[in-house]
Amino acid sequence: MIHPMRPVIVAGNWKMHTTPAEAGDLARTIGARTRVDGVTRVLCPPFVCLAAVGAAVSGPEVAAPDGTGIAVGAQDVHHELAGAYTGSTSAAMLAGLATWTIVGHSERRRDDCETDEQIGRKLLAARSAGLRVILCVGEQLADRDAGRAVSVVDRQVRGCLAAADPGALGADADGPRLTIAYEPVWAIGTGRNARGADAAEMAGAIRAALASLGFANAGEDIPILYGGSVSSANIDEFMTEPSIDGALVGGASLKPDEMAGIVARAGLTAQGRAAGLASRRKRRP
Ligand code: PGA
Repeated sequence: MIHPMRPVIVAGNWKMHTTPAEAGDLARTIGARTRVDGVTRVLCPPFVCLAAVGAAVSGPEVAAPDGTGIAVGAQDVHHELAGAYTGSTSAAMLAGLATWTIVGHSERRRDDCETDEQIGRKLLAARSAGLRVILCVGEQLADRDAGRAVSVVDRQVRGCLAAADPGALGADADGPRLTIAYEPVWAIGTGRNARGADAAEMAGAIRAALASLGFANAGEDIPILYGGSVSSANIDEFMTEPSIDGALVGGASLKPDEMAGIVARAGLTAQGRAAGLASRRKRRP
């Protein structure tokens, strides 16, 4: 059987950067510089910039030659769809503004004491509003030094997905409903990236955890991204790993030159996968 090909994804997490006035221009510039076939591009600006970014990427000037546009994502959602939660934003409120969202980013785990259980509820809230979810997991440096990186990430994946229905989180015709970003905490914003081989080892561990949770098609349906000091200079290390499907980019996602280099390299992997799929199809009796 020919498995559907996992998409290649480059998602930019702008964190708490850009004003609405700046965000549209930045999105337009990045869009025009990253028009590469086969790469799913997602920009995740601050909530207040979602509308400006959405408007900026709605035109044909950011579309890749194959017609693929840029998706807009949020950086977080609340675990309830409405209620007395001052200052929070629910998944339902993002209708018309975003089609993706990040949940479980380590900065929110750290600053807002988010637990795996709560992140799991955010994931379900996001899905109930139809958002495609990027779930972040990753170990601290002390965990890696002590040899427990895999067990920590395994526990996070299981904790966040304990209440989820695996059958409802596979890909649909337009893309993955669930993507997992492996982001070692010690690599985020530090300029110190993980090695491609370590990211690939973790991708294997994450897919094993998914399989044991009942995600029967985890290998085909769930893209796994690497995140943590990704740049145009080191993206190759990750994109050469067949188990890694792209990157969640922080600091470098604010720099059009960097995004151009990262998406261009991701495009080579996308092309290679498409060619591999085509030749497998041809060989089919
Ligand atoms: P970084 O951030 O690329 O700046 O390390 C990645 C992230 O936090 O998603």
